Amino acid sequence: MLAIVLTLAVLLLQVPDHAYSAKLPPSPPPDTSISFPPFSNRTLLCQFDKSVGLPANIICKSSDPPGQIIFSNDDDVISVRYQYRKPVALWKKGSPYAASFSTQFTVQFHRDAERSVKRVFGGGLAFAITPTIDVGSSGPESFGLFPIEDSTGKPAGGRNTKTVAVEIDTSRDVTYSWDPPIPHVGLDINSVNSVASRYLWDGPSFVDRKIAVFIDYDACRHRLEVRFQNVTANGKPNKSKSKLWLSYDGLDLAASVNELSYVGFSSRVPVTTDGVYFLYDWKFSTKWVLAKGSKH
Ligand SMILES: *[C@@H]1O[C@H](CO)[C@@H](O)[C@H](O)[C@H]1NC(C)=O
Ligand SMILES: *[C@@H]1O[C@H](CO)[C@@H](O)[C@H](O)[C@H]1NC(C)=O
Ligand SMILES: *[C@@H]1O[C@H](CO)[C@@H](O)[C@H](O)[C@H]1NC(C)=O
Repeated sequence: MLAIVLTLAVLLLQVPDHAYSAKLPPSPPPDTSISFPPFSNRTLLCQFDKSVGLPANIICKSSDPPGQIIFSNDDDVISVRYQYRKPVALWKKGSPYAASFSTQFTVQFHRDAERSVKRVFGGGLAFAITPTIDVGSSGPESFGLFPIEDSTGKPAGGRNTKTVAVEIDTSRDVTYSWDPPIPHVGLDINSVNSVASRYLWDGPSFVDRKIAVFIDYDACRHRLEVRFQNVTANGKPNKSKSKLWLSYDGLDLAASVNELSYVGFSSRVPVTTDGVYFLYDWKFSTKWVLAKGSKH
């Protein structure tokens, strides 16, 4: 009897100890931090339908002098990916940690000088988190993200595409009754029919100027925020001068994309005779935090 009591006492004494050690989470994976320019084809890949038969540096062209990347295609609108070559860790199975991220980039939708009408053109550009770096068979209507069902904007065949994107949409196809007026920003979670979207502003003020975009994801609160800033010709992106344009609570990245995902841009690039898209800079970084719902 005494032995049983002693054994129980020892077991009970050990409980707090176990509980305590279980409370110490393992350390999270290292953070990622990337920054451009310089834009280099050693770290970034320009990818599109190979049947187009053009070299990558024609579609994702370096400016002269170098500094910016210019997206366009002479013959036809096509879907293009311009992503970081190495996949980035965003969450880890069994870990209490998940990655929050911040990304920012400056773009210009630069109309061709011969176009007298100042309006948006091309299909737009999305910041995209994808399972592959390959544009696959996705058509221009989905910014090169994945093939969609025209009637719904959902992935063709009901696939789970493990894709999350923030789209800046500049093309309105009247067959897509679900798509809001352009230009708009939208959050796409496994569908280009955005879970949240908001009209940006009138086309004439949108084209031919530098626009900085700031996207922040909080893995602890499951919140995504998108900010915009009109940047003057010689100005710099500055988040404290930007305006919060879209926010969404309820994005669980760990449930929506692969642990290791590709980050960067997916676009339906314009035809050169309409104009080009300039990419001036891009920064992306992660910070591992204790995730929402983690027991620690
Ligand atoms: C990378 O860019 C350089 C300079 O523009 C070019 O010579 C080279 O062919 C490119 N490589 C690839 C793999 O695209
Ligand atoms: C950018 O400028 C346009 C035109 O003046 C304005 O309508 C829009 O609200 C501005 N956007 C931001 C983010 O300040
Ligand atoms: C960003 O804008 C804020 C507010 O206008 C200003 O105080 C700050 O100096 C700016 N930062 C940079 C790096 O220019």
